[in-house]
Amino acid sequence: MRVLVLGGTHFLGRHVVDAALAAGHDVATLTRGVSGDPPDGVRAFRGDREQPLPGDVLAWAPELVVDTSCRTRAAGEHAAVLDPAGYAFVSSLNAYRDWPPGPVRSEHDPTWDTDDDEYGPAKAHAERVLGAALGDRLLTARAGLVVGPHDRVHRLGWWLLRIAAGGPVVVPDALAQPMALVDARDLAGWLVAACGQVSGPVNATGPAGMTTLGGLLDTCREVTGGDAEWVVVPEDDLLAAGVQPWVHLPLWLPADTARTAWDVDTTRARELGLPSRPLRDTVADTWAWLQAAGAPGGDDLPGLPPDLEARLLALPRT
Ligand SMILES: NC(=O)c1ccc[n+]([C@@H]2O[C@H](COP(=O)([O-])OP(=O)(O)OC[C@H]3O[C@@H](n4cnc5c(N)ncnc54)[C@H](OP(=O)(O)O)[C@@H]3O)[C@@H](O)[C@H]2O)c1
Repeated sequence: MRVLVLGGTHFLGRHVVDAALAAGHDVATLTRGVSGDPPDGVRAFRGDREQPLPGDVLAWAPELVVDTSCRTRAAGEHAAVLDPAGYAFVSSLNAYRDWPPGPVRSEHDPTWDTDDDEYGPAKAHAERVLGAALGDRLLTARAGLVVGPHDRVHRLGWWLLRIAAGGPVVVPDALAQPMALVDARDLAGWLVAACGQVSGPVNATGPAGMTTLGGLLDTCREVTGGDAEWVVVPEDDLLAAGVQPWVHLPLWLPADTARTAWDVDTTRARELGLPSRPLRDTVADTWAWLQAAGAPGGDDLPGLPPDLEARLLALPRT
């Protein structure tokens, strides 16, 4: 089938392109051309999601659309003119009004109903306009934490590089905290297979409690090797020192949020066959990619500034 990937040159989208090619589809992408090009054999349409769709995209008449780039007001209009047989939209758990901290009990939990430009409300708004345009042709994947090769948001990547550097590593006193994530390749393959076959919202992340923060960090240490030693710092000390959860220590949330934020019901995803590959495979493949590609650049990458790390390591230990 003719599959149009909106996005398709960056992280999740490029895995969607790979999955669609592997499934034997005729694949095209639509991007501005800022984030690179799709692989050979893929038609690269140019356009901005904020603008009307280019004529060459409409003339190509995609049968399926996988939307990895949408937060735009024009989403419903684009979907209506494309008029595909199936449309898979990558939304987020942030579309839920009460998440975080959650928990998310089911896909029936309330979503944002404002139309401001914040991330979660914008996702919920896009869900509504796409639903109005497409009805039961729309699959909405409310993604949780997505990780894997080509992830330039650099949350897991930062931990891998820090742990590989070895020595004492500041970790939060939350190692037993259950968490869940989805490998971008698992999500991408499932999106391609489910597009046009499944409708409605799906909480698209790994099973609640599939690992713990400590289990993930231990796996990073196993995969990278080296002599990293955990220096466990209590939450109060981290916060008092100015450590920003999720930003300075990626993937760490304070206990009162983490207790429920990682508690997301994924029964529907499991019933619909969203896979969850072994965590070690995700970590090892992300590490292999990071070693080949190098650390991503950018001013807004997460991670613990060295001076803050030094101050935390100097705290008296009980
Ligand atoms: N990472 C996570 O943990 C996570 C969690 C939940 C949900 N999500 C969702 O997953 C989706 C995919 O995330 P991602 O990190 O892979 O990709 P992304 O950074 O959200 O999107 C990048 C892709 O979209 C294209 N793009 C961006 N702005 C565009 C515009 N104005 N017009 C046309 N194309 C545009 C980019 O190409 P050009 O720059 O060349 O235009 C690129 O191909 C997103 O919708 C995100 O909200 C991610």
